[in-house]
Amino acid sequence: MAEEGVFMKYTLAPSLLAADFSELGEELSKAERAGVRFVHFDVMDGSFVPNISFGAPIIRSLRKRSQSFFDVHMMVEEPIRYLEDMKNAGADRVTIHSEAARHLDRSLNRIRELGMQAGLALNPATPLSSVLLSKGLDSLLDLVLIMSVNPGFGGQKLIPYTLDKIKELAALRRESGGAYQIGIDGGVTMENLPSILDAGADFLVAGSSIFRPKERISENTRGFLEELSRR
Ligand code: DX5
Ligand code: ZN
Repeated sequence: MAEEGVFMKYTLAPSLLAADFSELGEELSKAERAGVRFVHFDVMDGSFVPNISFGAPIIRSLRKRSQSFFDVHMMVEEPIRYLEDMKNAGADRVTIHSEAARHLDRSLNRIRELGMQAGLALNPATPLSSVLLSKGLDSLLDLVLIMSVNPGFGGQKLIPYTLDKIKELAALRRESGGAYQIGIDGGVTMENLPSILDAGADFLVAGSSIFRPKERISENTRGFLEELSRR
């Protein structure tokens, strides 16, 4: 069976936003029993994005039952206000949006100071050049997360031009020797997975394709991990 993290060069991070919230712990365990080692948490504030999901208390309660790497995606205005809460809740990485943090350098440094990995997310319409061409910023990053949908909701369709951005970022990383992973978030399916991997992503968030329908969580997870281990 595909054991993530042992030999794979790709990382799969299922997004719990698509899980049944009344059975979060159980659904997470199912994905973990099928081989998942990373979990993606979508924190939304109803301001940066037009939806509210959950915050630190949910993350903290799941931390008690999971050994997985907790990857927290903050779709929140001025996320610097909540970094300590996320650390205390058990986050291993916090990803913030370039569009939501006025002082990006300070916010990323703060994440690292708190002992977590730092990620930077870019909305579909945000060009790479707005952040990654400022040399030096990439040394603060463990992940650059390219949003392939407009954030706020699960179950949307991937916006095709975002794959060009992934290609552009992969080229940039090759040139600069950057150590960050290249992530994609939104509308990832078994069908578009090959084109996503060809574009150069190595960190994949998938919500609906893993947790829906709920009877297929194990099969969906194994399907993804097997496909990734073949590459
Ligand atoms: C979108 C979130 C995504 C979302 C992905 O706002 O950041 O992580 O949950 O869900 P799917 O895979 O269903 O598009
Ligand atoms: Zn997300």
